[in-house]
Amino acid sequence: MTTIKELGRFVTPEAVVYKMLSLIDFSLIPEKASVLEPACYDAPFLSGLQKYFPDTWGQLETINALDIDPNVKLPYSLNKAKLIHEDFLLWNTNQRYDLILGNPPYGIPGDSTHYPIPVSADRKKQWKKAISTWQGKYNLYAAFIEKAIKLLKPSGQLIFVVPGTFMFLDEFQLLRRFIAHSGTTNIYYVGKNIFRGQASVSVVFLHFIKSTPNQLTLYDWQDAAGQPRIMQRINDWNGSEVTFTSELTKEFENKSFVRVRDLFTVHISPRTPEIKKALAEKWIFTNPSDNSVPILTSKHLKHGRVAYEINSKYFVNIKDKTRLRKFFDFPRLVVSLGFHDGRLAAAYDHKAYPWMGDVYHLIPQNGGKRNLFSNNGNHLKNLHFEYLSTYLSSYLIGRYINEKYRDFIYHINKQQLMQLPILSEADFNKLRNNHEA
Ligand SMILES: C[S@@+](CC[C@H](N)C(=O)[O-])C[C@H]1O[C@@H](n2cnc3c(N)ncnc32)[C@H](O)[C@@H]1O
Repeated sequence: MTTIKELGRFVTPEAVVYKMLSLIDFSLIPEKASVLEPACYDAPFLSGLQKYFPDTWGQLETINALDIDPNVKLPYSLNKAKLIHEDFLLWNTNQRYDLILGNPPYGIPGDSTHYPIPVSADRKKQWKKAISTWQGKYNLYAAFIEKAIKLLKPSGQLIFVVPGTFMFLDEFQLLRRFIAHSGTTNIYYVGKNIFRGQASVSVVFLHFIKSTPNQLTLYDWQDAAGQPRIMQRINDWNGSEVTFTSELTKEFENKSFVRVRDLFTVHISPRTPEIKKALAEKWIFTNPSDNSVPILTSKHLKHGRVAYEINSKYFVNIKDKTRLRKFFDFPRLVVSLGFHDGRLAAAYDHKAYPWMGDVYHLIPQNGGKRNLFSNNGNHLKNLHFEYLSTYLSSYLIGRYINEKYRDFIYHINKQQLMQLPILSEADFNKLRNNHEA
């Protein structure tokens, strides 16, 4: 039996519905308008429209609600609405809408052993075919955005509450481009408190209008309290990633003379299945021997140092460590995926050990020489590994990441790590003095 959680269902509080409905540009709603609430459950958005905006409600000719769950019923008060039991992503209709509202399901669909939203391989294949922006580990909410935009009439509006990850994660690149080219986008950051008690997901309100393309406005509207504040307006948005700005992010970006990607390539450590395979092949083992070195994990990675004294679970003969990764042959910077105490952990592994799990390796593009970072032949301002490990482990870089991506990320991905700005030691010390004083 499908559980409530598997259908991706949590309820949108009435106050949140009201705030979202108040974003509608009512001047764009024609006489005899059409409205749709997909993934409706008991259709709180249609109920809100009827209750708080009766004039608009009176103007509606077509009122549709849709849900995949055949047990879903609408409340009696919505007897003017037609309920459709269909899979929204595969729904074939000629109807187009002036208004599409709601709270789509969130989650990565896949087989039930690995993914939160279980779905058959066949259904997933059909979704991928129907949704042109589908990429990588796609999220249902993103597929709902594409489908909804396709169902809008010219000047039609979409208002969804969704996670903010589509703004910057790589797998939503095609979706961002599609949104940008299709109309005008307003994103309101509201954060993680509006579903309090039900889910800890941080969300934005997306208000999209199928009109002038390439317009983007980003608003700050924490908890949807008070008035939204404009943070950024772009008139030629082509779908590039959208992140938040603050005094601190601006200072970092203005002062940085180089990014991580200009100096290093970034590699993730071997994952557990690879280690387990080598264990079965017996060239990785669980008891140390004379010629072995330990395989380190994220628990060995502290702020600014490698905790070599902590025991390891796995070992490899020193001559075999490059069978795992060639770069295990030389000392290198290691960086955590996760945040501890609000900051990354980075350190210089001077013993050149092998690693596994949630740890990145930064491999200098100039062949790994110490203190010789060169950018097009220019010696770079005293950059050295010890400084970079302090820099990447600092609270200030932790704050930079937090202010740029807010609470939408739990770990830093490769792309985000490669984009981190690097400041000279002198500039960084100045910034630290200003911000940590
Ligand atoms: C209100 S939404 C999701 C709310 C919240 N964002 C979440 O992720 O839990 C949940 C509803 O979407 C419906 N639903 C899930 N997948 C669907 C699909 N492919 N097509 C239409 N409705 C779907 C479920 O039956 C459920 O009633």
